[in-house]
Amino acid sequence: MEADNPNRTLRTTPQFALYQRENFWKSNNGEVPPFNTEPAALEDLARTKLTQNGWYYASSNAGQSRTHTVNRQAFYRHRIIPRILVDTNQRDTATEIFGHKVAAPIGFAPVGINKIYHPLGELPVATIAGELNLPYCLSTAGSHPVEDVGAANDAGAQRSNVDACRFFQLYMPHDDELTRSILERAVKSGFTACILTVDTWQLGWRHDDINTSNYAFYHGTGADLGLSDPVFQKRLREKGIDAKTQPNEAGALWIDNVWHGRAHTWEKVKWVMELWRELSGGKPFCLKGIQAVGDAEKAVEMGVDGIVVSNHAGRQVDGAVASLDALEQIVDAVGDKTYIMFDSGVRSASDVFKALALGAKFVFVGRLWIWGLAIMGEPGVRHVLKSLLAEFDILLNVAGFRNVAEITRSALESGPKDYPLLHVTSKL
Ligand code: GLV
Repeated sequence: MEADNPNRTLRTTPQFALYQRENFWKSNNGEVPPFNTEPAALEDLARTKLTQNGWYYASSNAGQSRTHTVNRQAFYRHRIIPRILVDTNQRDTATEIFGHKVAAPIGFAPVGINKIYHPLGELPVATIAGELNLPYCLSTAGSHPVEDVGAANDAGAQRSNVDACRFFQLYMPHDDELTRSILERAVKSGFTACILTVDTWQLGWRHDDINTSNYAFYHGTGADLGLSDPVFQKRLREKGIDAKTQPNEAGALWIDNVWHGRAHTWEKVKWVMELWRELSGGKPFCLKGIQAVGDAEKAVEMGVDGIVVSNHAGRQVDGAVASLDALEQIVDAVGDKTYIMFDSGVRSASDVFKALALGAKFVFVGRLWIWGLAIMGEPGVRHVLKSLLAEFDILLNVAGFRNVAEITRSALESGPKDYPLLHVTSKL
């Protein structure tokens, strides 16, 4: 494609498609592209770079991976209907999320303990999100202080001269003082929405992780977000735990506050929504982990600003419905009443496109960037996301769509929900 396409200057977003050209040209300069971003190849390569525990934790699903499998199969039952001779020359991938103009409807899903994937953990991920002008979502189970992740995200955004856009994903403790402290820190660190996860009071049953005692926090890794919290430090003192000499006990106390295994109720969710709004001056509050139409309706009734239709990438309930199928029904019920985001099983630009066509306004990806992080740290995350953005930009071009708003249900032909019971590994 033309490097100096005159339409470049007319777009509000970079011409991401040029990343294709950049990679095609590389061998002329004696270079090679960093690695293959085909999802299965990417996953295979990441596996070779990770420790056994890192690999198990990143790739594990609940039970026999049936939910993961159906999450992926659901994408195959929808097919895109390409259009021709549409003037896509000034196409644009930009969209808006909670008042932030971002480069594409693609965000970084909250994923915990990134230090088990790369020594620098969340920092390079947040940096690249800022650099590419995509929203970054930090998990409460993140392995860096929230302040440091905010600064890394700002540093990335400054490289591209854009405003950083970051959200804080909350696992709500049963210790209200601790919840308040974590949220205060998130607000001070520039996180502009709170996304409360409601499908994970504790981790689902994941065979490989259990069989290898694979819970990093119990082994002294990953509790940094908690260890840097003044209220949690007080809790450590109250229990007589010294985090330096007793890292396993300190890590356990932290994660047992986060994944405590004790369900919250709608009343408590209302409380934390009000707390977040008080602390943040009214910034958006969302629920993540909704699959049932009735729950989506209840969330809307309660006054949330958005929901993330997600089944935690199949890591919680084995044998559950496909998140993409849940999306369709939830959009029908409340699509005009709240801001609907989606995750679980996204591996490509066409998956992003399909979720948007079914009514999601925004799509989060998780495992793809974990693999990039594991393979090469910051350049790895950059290569994965730039490739996904290029794939999306090129998809709009070759399928005849000018912008995200044009992606509607009429863009899809959809087959029946007829999923053969396969035994599928994490690849599909
Ligand atoms: C945590 O969110 C996990 O799925 O392990």
